[in-house]
Amino acid sequence: MRVLVIGSGAREHALCVALSSDPAVSALACAPGNAGTRAVAEQVGWAGKPLDAADPDAVARVAVDWGAELVVIGPEVPLVAGAADAVRDAGIACFGPSAEAAQLEGSKSFAKHVMAAAGVPTARSWPVGGPAELETALDESGAPYVVKDDGLAAGKGVLVTDDRDAAVAHGHRVLDAGGAVLVEEYLDGPEVSLFAVTDGTTVLPLLPAQDHKRRDDGDGGPNTGGMGAYAPLPWAPPGLVDEVLATVLQPTVDEMARRGETFSGLLYAGLALTSRGLRVVEFNARFGDPETQVVLPLLETPLAGLLHAAATGTLAEHPPLRWRTGAAVTVVVAAPGYPDSPRTGFPITGADGEGVLHAGTALTADGDVVSAGGRVLAVTGLGADLAAARQAAYERVAGVRLADAHWRTDIALAAVEGRITVGAEADG
Ligand code: AMP
Ligand code: GLY
Repeated sequence: MRVLVIGSGAREHALCVALSSDPAVSALACAPGNAGTRAVAEQVGWAGKPLDAADPDAVARVAVDWGAELVVIGPEVPLVAGAADAVRDAGIACFGPSAEAAQLEGSKSFAKHVMAAAGVPTARSWPVGGPAELETALDESGAPYVVKDDGLAAGKGVLVTDDRDAAVAHGHRVLDAGGAVLVEEYLDGPEVSLFAVTDGTTVLPLLPAQDHKRRDDGDGGPNTGGMGAYAPLPWAPPGLVDEVLATVLQPTVDEMARRGETFSGLLYAGLALTSRGLRVVEFNARFGDPETQVVLPLLETPLAGLLHAAATGTLAEHPPLRWRTGAAVTVVVAAPGYPDSPRTGFPITGADGEGVLHAGTALTADGDVVSAGGRVLAVTGLGADLAAARQAAYERVAGVRLADAHWRTDIALAAVEGRITVGAEADG
């Protein structure tokens, strides 16, 4: 099978690594890719230029030209723009939802409507059409305030704060930029990212993982796209995956089908395990980044066959997923100034070892690797348990050289130290 991966981050590098170890894959390409994906996948472009993944026609043309038999779309922007529709219209199997179905991620208020119709537990929310409604919504929600950009914002559109002035200012920023705002009830409790592969009918959950969204140690600093992740979750309640499948994933997929907006691809449930039970924080319509970098190395089932089954509506016949024992931890190495104003273009060394996945990197004309994005690398370690995986990841991080790089030193630490508890107030 000839497989083409669309995207240029560490998630796509992780997808390429996993796909390249599937014996069913006869050729692998990535577009536009990065300096790391080149080591495992052919770099293909369109008309002699790097692919603009946000242009659905260009994505379909590169897939046709290269002779792809399966296209795997990594990021949300091409999905929301309709890249999966364009690829399918060209007669090629595609892993990823239609533009309509990707609205589960592209519009938080659309996702709220679907959840309400499907009876899926989520935070209460107040849609805000203008500045006057913002104050009313904040009065009703009370502190801590959760103010969200309704549209795509690369994980950076959410402000959670006790500071009313900051909440108002964030809401105004989004409204002034022409966006819509959602104010939400605050959800306590640890967060879980659970991915499920689906063909629109059958839903196969993967391993739960946890992301670290804040930039700094101890969950300080601004929200980011994600600074590190680990899997599995030693503190997860038994039966968590079955519960999420029954109360969140399957009802959502069924409701999308009922609306005629069949969701196939990867449904990512971002969950909070609150003192009052589990709640959906958000849906994403694609693999999470950096959680993919810890989930895929633990997946023993060949990835291309799984994604092809989802893309072709044959997931019901797919064998149950097999997982490796042990744990995985990934640490994101970010550019100085990330997330507000990352400074890029610096040389990187020590980034070619096993487990070092490239995110924002590029090759110079001389063949040197330089930083080219806010999140530069995702460095993954595996081990018999979380403590060993954590140690392996940080040993690899120590071998990377990038001027003024920033990374968190506490990825997976609370889990290793047994400091994460679920449902402290006990579900009454
Ligand atoms: P989102 O883009 O919706 O995933 O939000 C990004 C991050 O903001 C989440 O992973 C949470 O850490 C935080 N967040 C979002 N919504 C809430 C909420 N209702 N209550 C508490 N924290 C939230
Ligand atoms: N890790 C968060 C995301 O992929 O949206």
